[in-house]
Amino acid sequence: MKILVVGSGGTVGRALVPLLHEHDVVRFQGDIRDAEFVSADAVFLLWPFFTPDGADAVIDALATRTGHVVYLSSESATPASVWGEIEARIRATRLEWTFLRPTGFAKNTLIWADQIRSGVVRWPFGQAARSLIDERDLAAVAARALTERHAGATHVITGPEAVRQAEQVRLIGEAIGMPVRWEEQPRDAARDALVPVFGDATDAALDTWERFIAQPETVTDTVLTVTGRPAGSFRAWARDNADAF
Ligand SMILES: NC(=O)c1ccc[n+]([C@@H]2O[C@H](COP(=O)([O-])OP(=O)(O)OC[C@H]3O[C@@H](n4cnc5c(N)ncnc54)[C@H](OP(=O)(O)O)[C@@H]3O)[C@@H](O)[C@H]2O)c1
Repeated sequence: MKILVVGSGGTVGRALVPLLHEHDVVRFQGDIRDAEFVSADAVFLLWPFFTPDGADAVIDALATRTGHVVYLSSESATPASVWGEIEARIRATRLEWTFLRPTGFAKNTLIWADQIRSGVVRWPFGQAARSLIDERDLAAVAARALTERHAGATHVITGPEAVRQAEQVRLIGEAIGMPVRWEEQPRDAARDALVPVFGDATDAALDTWERFIAQPETVTDTVLTVTGRPAGSFRAWARDNADAF
């Protein structure tokens, strides 16, 4: 098969390309919004922008060049979100599609790297439980979806369990060989600190984390059912990515 990979230098793409070694892989180069696409049997697509502006032309161009798109969406793909809008635009074409809807990526915890090295992480909602996905598992599901043509499937992809944020920090400390303490940050103080990073999405992020205290994030067995082996734990991800902290 000939497979076009958008985002081949990104976290998921770097893990995906080696899994496709038996196939003819073309790594997309350049700005996707200006692109002419090669013809391919299938495309791995991500949309690395905060709005869907320009997506119509890109998706229409892909529809003339390929029969199947595997789109890296999100478990948070509401109709009004950029992920939901891209999914709707893909559905409106003749393309066969597979939507990958992961929960948060394990690498998101690297936002704590500076604090981890100081030995204390000050952050809100330490009891929020998240089913962070190891990006290598996400890539493994993507590889199956591309090569086995999971047309019409929406895969909700998560880690094997929901781990509370304070425990994530403890596990990162274990992986890097130093104790790291969680210090609960009040919501208002967290909001002031996060607005420069998260912008308009800050309140929604805080609301989501707060909700995950009483109602831990969804856990699915998609990695197991699609790839035949269970999703990796957050402990294993932290061990394998200790150097990144
Ligand atoms: N982080 C999360 O928790 C989470 C959860 C759900 C979904 N997602 C989705 O995951 C995607 C990010 O995946 P990732 O983490 O693997 O990527 P990443 O490591 O953040 O790297 C960004 C990728 O986007 C590509 N890119 C940036 N600007 C581009 C442009 N103008 N045209 C074409 N490609 C461009 C880069 O291409 P090059 O390889 O050419 O540099 C790179 O591969 C986003 O769409 C995000 O919405 C993330």
